[in-house]
Amino acid sequence: MNHNPVLAVLKERFGAFVSGEELGRHAGVSRTAIWKRINHIRSLGYGIESSTRRGYRLVKVTGKLIPEEVGWGLNTATVGRSILHYDEVASTNEEAKRLAIEGAEDGAVLIAEEQTGGRGRLGRGWISPRGGIWLSVILRPRIAPSDGPKVMMLAASSVFATLRSAGLAASIKWPNDIIVGGKKVCGILTEMASQPEIVDHIIVGIGLNANISLELFSTDIRACATSLEAELGHPVERLKLVQGLLQGLDVRYAGLKKGNFDSIVGEWRGACGTIGQEIELSTASGTVGGLAVGVDGCGAIVLRLSDGSERAFSAGEVTVVKR
Ligand code: BTN
Repeated sequence: MNHNPVLAVLKERFGAFVSGEELGRHAGVSRTAIWKRINHIRSLGYGIESSTRRGYRLVKVTGKLIPEEVGWGLNTATVGRSILHYDEVASTNEEAKRLAIEGAEDGAVLIAEEQTGGRGRLGRGWISPRGGIWLSVILRPRIAPSDGPKVMMLAASSVFATLRSAGLAASIKWPNDIIVGGKKVCGILTEMASQPEIVDHIIVGIGLNANISLELFSTDIRACATSLEAELGHPVERLKLVQGLLQGLDVRYAGLKKGNFDSIVGEWRGACGTIGQEIELSTASGTVGGLAVGVDGCGAIVLRLSDGSERAFSAGEVTVVKR
């Protein structure tokens, strides 16, 4: 876990002066070397006052989702044991793929304040300005590639549960959009690399519109997307949400590793607002209408068509038909 002993002491004694000598003792470095460490901590966005006689005191914590904050008090077995932070990156999913190929550990998390080339499903882009929660998790479950969609389901259920605990009436829209107030607040992009028999790694990319002003969206996007800040009327505490999300992912991921597929699919089904609705599904080969009667074990949506037959679709965009 990313550990910074100087910051840890300053945080524990928030607002109180700690001498350079004492900080040096905790960090195992000389009193003079502490100065450099303090400047580094300041560069992370923390406010530290210094006094020649009394030492240093922390007066403001950073608002960034850096490992020193996210990892602080996080009690997970796998997810978030390693956290990387980017002030700006093209796409955390792209970066995660590169690191996964280089052998990054199971559960490693990459978080960005801003993405300049965020990627969405179906080859689309993903608007990722500051204020949002843009993260990717590298998972290495020893499961068959055909069970890969369960990872997408456990990710959607984790976001759903996190938002519910924050008091938001969230639901899942097939395949993995999270809806609040009738609009999309979060998207999930899972990307899998596998051998014929076994998964090598799955990147779970989660984009949560947390503290985003809707003015940053085009009129088209505003018609179907929202942010937590816009729904609640005030900014959310991103740190708490990220920690809750990583905790939720960790618990569900442990279940997946034990083969508890039924509970993963069951939880997802319970949270999905698409099932039971009359929908139109636009797919690469055209639009099809029908009643969404369920999802199969591969996460494909099962539609009852007008002739009474049932057909499963693994990809597409859902529009609920209003009657
Ligand atoms: C969707 O189209 O609904 C999926 C959007 C996924 C966006 C997230 S943001 C973090 C991660 N990095 C990316 O480039 N995409 C995912």
